[in-house]
Amino acid sequence: MTKIVEKHSLIKRCTHWMNVALLCLMIWSGILIYWANDIYIVIPNEFARALNINQRLAEGMAWHFFIMWGFVLNGLVYLAYLVCSGDWRFSNYNKIQKIAYTAVIIMAIWAVLSGLAIYKPVTLGWLTKILGGYEAARFQHFLMMCGFVIFIPIHVIQVLRAGWNNFRSMVAGYEIEK
Ligand code: HEM
Repeated sequence: MTKIVEKHSLIKRCTHWMNVALLCLMIWSGILIYWANDIYIVIPNEFARALNINQRLAEGMAWHFFIMWGFVLNGLVYLAYLVCSGDWRFSNYNKIQKIAYTAVIIMAIWAVLSGLAIYKPVTLGWLTKILGGYEAARFQHFLMMCGFVIFIPIHVIQVLRAGWNNFRSMVAGYEIEK
């Protein structure tokens, strides 16, 4: 007999998909900011031009500092949901998933804190200091972005391997058990 089993709450699904859009915009606008000054990785001008990411610092900053509010708010709603519902235990998931999802949440918090530390290094000087200074915080912020860029394809491959039933559960909320 087939059975419909509820898997992901509406609030979790909404915050998850909002997060996908917001994080993509944060990474894209962050790249516009980083590659206005090739302090970490030098990429050839032709390549930057082909990707349309060169000379767009002001635009990148405007987007980054606007979208960050949505990213933080959405993250706070998800975290509050996890704590209040007890879902933070990730009991539906295997060990690897538990580690990956916990790590990506810690990375998101770290990305926000290191971002604030370089956004307001005077007003939030104490935070910048805790993170080891402006340059250290800037590097950590960059590392978190790299972490997301590594996490996303692995996560998507896992989702593809798990199949339609699993993907649908993050859209419709339920899985069909046979
Ligand atoms: C197009 C890209 C993405 C797809 C197709 C996708 C799909 C999914 C699916 C199907 C699940 C449920 C897994 C299961 O029940 O076994 C899931 C869970 C999760 N995903 Fe994604 N995801 C994507 C992007 C992201 C991104 C960018 C992040 C964050 C950086 C993320 C973070 C998470 C987390 C933390 C969970 C666990 C949620 C919970 O149970 O509280 N996902 N994703």
